[in-house]
Amino acid sequence: MSPQTASSTLARQTPAGGGGLPRLLPPAGQTSDLAAHLWRHGPVPYRGGAGALIGDVRAAGLTGRGGASFPVYRKLEAVAAARPGRAIVVGNAAEGEPASHKDEALLFAAPHLVLDGLQLAAEAVGARRAVLYVRADLRERTRLDAQMPERYANGLDRVAVEIVSAPARFLAGEESAMASLLSGGPAAPQFTPPRVFERGVDGRPTLVQNVETLAHLALIARYGPGWFRALGTPDEPGTMLCTLRQAGGSASVAEAAIGTPLAGLLDLRAASAVLVGGYHGAWVTAAQASALALSNAALRPAGAFTGAGVLAALPADRCGLVESARVVRYLALESAGQCGPCRSGLPSIAAALAELAGGRPGPQVLTDLSRWAGLAEGRGACHHPDGTVRFVRSALSVFAAEVRQHQQGRCTAASHRPFLPVPAGPPTDANWS
Ligand SMILES: Cc1cc2nc3c(=O)[nH]c(=O)nc-3n(C[C@H](O)[C@H](O)[C@H](O)COP(=O)(O)O)c2cc1C
Ligand code: SF4
Repeated sequence: MSPQTASSTLARQTPAGGGGLPRLLPPAGQTSDLAAHLWRHGPVPYRGGAGALIGDVRAAGLTGRGGASFPVYRKLEAVAAARPGRAIVVGNAAEGEPASHKDEALLFAAPHLVLDGLQLAAEAVGARRAVLYVRADLRERTRLDAQMPERYANGLDRVAVEIVSAPARFLAGEESAMASLLSGGPAAPQFTPPRVFERGVDGRPTLVQNVETLAHLALIARYGPGWFRALGTPDEPGTMLCTLRQAGGSASVAEAAIGTPLAGLLDLRAASAVLVGGYHGAWVTAAQASALALSNAALRPAGAFTGAGVLAALPADRCGLVESARVVRYLALESAGQCGPCRSGLPSIAAALAELAGGRPGPQVLTDLSRWAGLAEGRGACHHPDGTVRFVRSALSVFAAEVRQHQQGRCTAASHRPFLPVPAGPPTDANWS
């Protein structure tokens, strides 16, 4: 999917600050350059000092769009409490999740909204250093580099922005991994506490926000919390970008109001199941998905959550076990291998799932999977083992009928063509910087 495709998918012609969609991306036919951005949204609405934006962000109910849905004002408050000038802000566009393309699409279609958000976040916490942490293979990287001097020349940026490449690895966007890389170490998760908002890059309080979160923040600063809350649900206000993978094979990025029925985003007719939230997310059956909506409150009873907005409808002719086994092998290989659950737990889980998917499982395989999952959970320095275990458990539950077929040496899939994207080739273990 090209970012161009993504932006045209998103465009539904509404004025900036109007009541409809899209909010984040420019309407069809409008470019993403600085002149068009300024025409649409005006200059960066600085508030005249640290702290003034935090109340609006709190009233808006903005939560992080990088996966954990954490209230943004709480991190802003924590970092703003640091000694003036010590804080650092980072816009996270590592997008290590292979099934997600929404940050790439946003940086292509609305880079200045992200950069405005970075400036406003820096002002809100009194930071004098700002970093945009972007996936190393981002196609638009050179375009971003070129935009910085133009913004500076137009007086938009009070804090110079440094663009730093994130290794194209699943864990590179985890905030302690990112803080380690920016401090001169490997992009591998670090043991917490302290959390990065207490002691992050170079030991300084570091505000890390996903780039989509920053773009929402830039809109809240302009149009206010009431405008933000006009879409979404009272408890989960606003919109979010979703990467949609349809059973027919197409992929796109769409902006949806939180609370939108999943059936309004995915064509479920040719699907047997839906992966919600990405590779640390959960499977639900297509029947379940048809009654679910895009909000954590709606998804929680099904064991799922919005995550970073990945929704993938598994074609009915594929085997969910085979797909899951491929993803879990990838996740096991992507671990930093520093903690017990990743050194032994995830490889054992991946091998057992591969055995099950292969159709000749030993009699113990389900017992082993359940035991190893229990041992891996809650024991890592980061949430990688927990997210992987959640994905595995949901696969075993949603594809229970297929598990029974595989135990008999059969597989119901008509096609074994891979559906979910997994980077080709073995990971290069050395590539952590
Ligand atoms: C394994 C793992 C990978 C992550 N990868 C990303 C990522 O690629 N991009 C991102 O924005 N957040 C990622 N996160 C979440 C970050 O640690 C952090 O919570 C987030 O960037 C904060 O921004 P937000 O509050 O605006 O969502 C990841 C978390 C984990 C546990
Ligand atoms: S839990 Fe796994 S991925 Fe996370 S820090 Fe430990 S070894 Fe690395």
